[in-house]
Amino acid sequence: DWTPAHFIETTVAAICEKVGSDHVLCALSGGVDSSVAAVLVHKAIGDQLTCVFVNNGVLRKNEFAQVTQNLRDKLGLNLVPVDASDRFLAKLASVTDPETKRKTIGREFIAVFEDESNRIAEQTGGVDWLVQGTLYPDVIESSSVRGPSQTIKSHHNVGGLPERMKMKLIEPLRDLFKDEVRRIGRDLGMPEDILQRQPFPGPGLAVRILGEVTADRVAILQEADDIVVKEIKAAGLYSKVWQSFAVLLPIQTVGVMGDQRTYANTCAIRAVHSEDGMTADWAPLPYDVLKRISSRIVNEVRGINRVVYDITSKPPGTIEWE
Ligand code: XMP
Repeated sequence: DWTPAHFIETTVAAICEKVGSDHVLCALSGGVDSSVAAVLVHKAIGDQLTCVFVNNGVLRKNEFAQVTQNLRDKLGLNLVPVDASDRFLAKLASVTDPETKRKTIGREFIAVFEDESNRIAEQTGGVDWLVQGTLYPDVIESSSVRGPSQTIKSHHNVGGLPERMKMKLIEPLRDLFKDEVRRIGRDLGMPEDILQRQPFPGPGLAVRILGEVTADRVAILQEADDIVVKEIKAAGLYSKVWQSFAVLLPIQTVGVMGDQRTYANTCAIRAVHSEDGMTADWAPLPYDVLKRISSRIVNEVRGINRVVYDITSKPPGTIEWE
């Protein structure tokens, strides 16, 4: 019967056999799936695997440094951090439509990744394989027939690499569910803060900044989001909710700070319970947790003077606001 140790042993052997002495590439997102897939492949072939981790300018506070530290410095992956923030933010300038944001980020990601993979291919004499953290539910979802009219949001991940990059795929987690992936990660000695991470959308904070995405607005949301995550963790709720985060609205309201009038941004807090992200219930966070989040945000984050709580379930709402 199924055990993580047995899965790891047979998968490692299969990867070694398949890959031989070829060079392999992985696009790390910092999430659970791509991280576990990368660590598994690294266990099989060591530095024949190069992982590329792209800062798209819309990651969470300190995320670029933390993921690099965890996966390269602690777990020993051969990881290339690529800070492409400026490139992404330049492309996002004046984009306000949600789908256009997604497509812009998706296209730019492919461009950055292609540049890196060409560079790595030159150094290594060619890259034949690409690792992806596809899970069983992803396989099911993409095989179900859906007309374009039913595309609610164009989720992007590395699945959409252009034909010309023609790499063969290694998808070691294809038969697994999320909880099995976590057990494997644990067996591989990965830290809990990687394994328990809540889902985070590919287009990152860009779809949580309503209206135009600018460096300033990213910085404001990163601070607010960091407070939400820390307070939710401190309350022991982080792994009890599916997602919990802040959204920056394109709305300014009047407030008062000391005896000064303020006119600043509104931020919404979103926390939901869900099994798979397809449907979700808004989470009734304890009032004292909401109170701490709210007062910390308005006191500590410059540029936000009002906090509201989203009490919409999915459907009819979606989890993200864009
Ligand atoms: P929605 O907003 O559609 O989100 O209710 C459902 C789940 O999917 C995540 N999400 C995304 N993930 N690329 C991703 O990789 C995307 O473009 C994207 N949009 C939404 C969302 O965080 C939630 O977990």
